[in-house]
Formats: sequence, structure tokens, C-alpha cells
Amino acid sequence: MNFHVLTLFPEMIRQGMNTSIIGRAIAGGYLSVQAVNIRDYAFNKHQKVDDYPYGGGAGMLMQAEPVYLAYESVEKKIGYKPRVVYLTPQGKVFHQEMARSFAKEQDLVFLCGHYEGIDERVLEEIVTDYVSIGDYVLTGGELPAMVVMDAVSRMVPGVLSNQESGETESFAGGLLEYPQYSRPEEWHEKKVPPVLLSGHHANIEAWRREQSLMRTARRRPDLLKTADITNKEWNQIRQWRKEWKAETGKE
Ligand code: ADE
Repeated sequence: MNFHVLTLFPEMIRQGMNTSIIGRAIAGGYLSVQAVNIRDYAFNKHQKVDDYPYGGGAGMLMQAEPVYLAYESVEKKIGYKPRVVYLTPQGKVFHQEMARSFAKEQDLVFLCGHYEGIDERVLEEIVTDYVSIGDYVLTGGELPAMVVMDAVSRMVPGVLSNQESGETESFAGGLLEYPQYSRPEEWHEKKVPPVLLSGHHANIEAWRREQSLMRTARRRPDLLKTADITNKEWNQIRQWRKEWKAETGKE
């Protein structure tokens, strides 16, 4: 997977992407990250990339031409028109399925905006996917781009070790992960749930499944609708809900 990031802050991308698992995957040749400095494509005396919006209003806009030329440098290099992801709070909210879809590409281009946005005309011409990482406003697209690249990278073969990818993870099967414990057996007077020390694998699996269901029902009930849940488990969830309501007087 080759990531190409069009940005005014290439150092932020380089710094953010060279540690831990992603850094290891780049060193191992499973991923590459090219930060393309949009300012290098501002062919005017002061390397200016922004200007006032027509019609007035607050702030400055990134101009179309430097963004377009930066994009074109990538298209020329790879020899085809890639998917171009523009990070914006106006995009579709990012989720695991989107990460899976992006991971199938050979190249992915990320366009990071700053100031009050980017001239609409260049967006119309190059952007294929408008993506938000959540309903809040950040100062630029670099952090969102790194969030998306991190999630996509985990799906690229070779990036995670066998052990890392073998781990059950939140959202596998559409449920949140069960709680986990390591040594010591007792900490701050809290004991590890005895079933986990029993060595009885079927019981451990059943306990983990139940914890996943309970946790999802409590913390992210919206996920239950699309998760794989049996009728028997739905009955259990309804039972818990009655109990929680009785305990707290709330839904
Ligand atoms: N740029 C600014 N805020 C953003 C967000 N929440 N998601 C994606 N891009 C952004």
C-alpha cells in the first residue's frame, strides 16, 4: 500500500507515521508514505497557497492550482487516477468497513485542508471520497489522514504480525471486545475473574462472548442492530436491560 499525502505540513505526517507498528511496516516494505508539500507547487514569488474567498467571509481558502499540481505529480508518478480522500467534517463518518475498502487499493491519496477550506473546483476535479473522522472540527486534515492511514494499514497483509492479527478485536463480529487481564491475579484488591484461571476453554469462550454482548449493550447499543446475535442472546440482552433498569431506574 502506498499512501500519498498532499499537505502543507509534510513533517507532521513524516513524524507521525514512523513509529511503532506503522514505522515497522514502512521499514519492512509493506507500506510507503509520501508526504507531498503543496507549497512546492505554488509557482509565485512568495509561494502563496491561500487567498480570500469570493463573496467575503472569514478566513482564507487554499487555492485550486497548487493543490491540483501536487495531485497531478502523484498521478503522473503512479500512472493512473487513484482514489483521493479529502478529510473534512462534511464527509461520510469513517468506519471499519471503509478502512477495509481503502485497503484494497494499491495507492491512496489523502488531501489535507487548512484555513477555511479548499477552492471547490479542485475538489470537484480530483476528490473521490469525502471522509470525516467524527462530528467535531479540527484545525487541519493531517490528524484525520493519519487516523485513516493507521486503520487502513492494519488491514494490509504483512503489517500486523501473526500474533497481532490473530487477536480478537473490537468490531470483529460487530461487538465490542471482552475485558482482559494479565498478572498479577490480584491488584488493588480486584481479582481476575476465576473462569479465566480455570483452563476450561469452552467456559472461557462462553464468558468472553457474554462479556462482549453485555459491554456492547451497555456502551454501544447502536452496534447491536448490525451484529451477529442469536435469538437466545437477544433474550439475555432483554433480561439484562430489565435488571439495569431496576437497578438504576434508567433505560
Ligand atoms: N478536518 C477538520 N475536522 C475534521 C474531521 N472531524 N474529520 C476530518 N477532517 C477534518
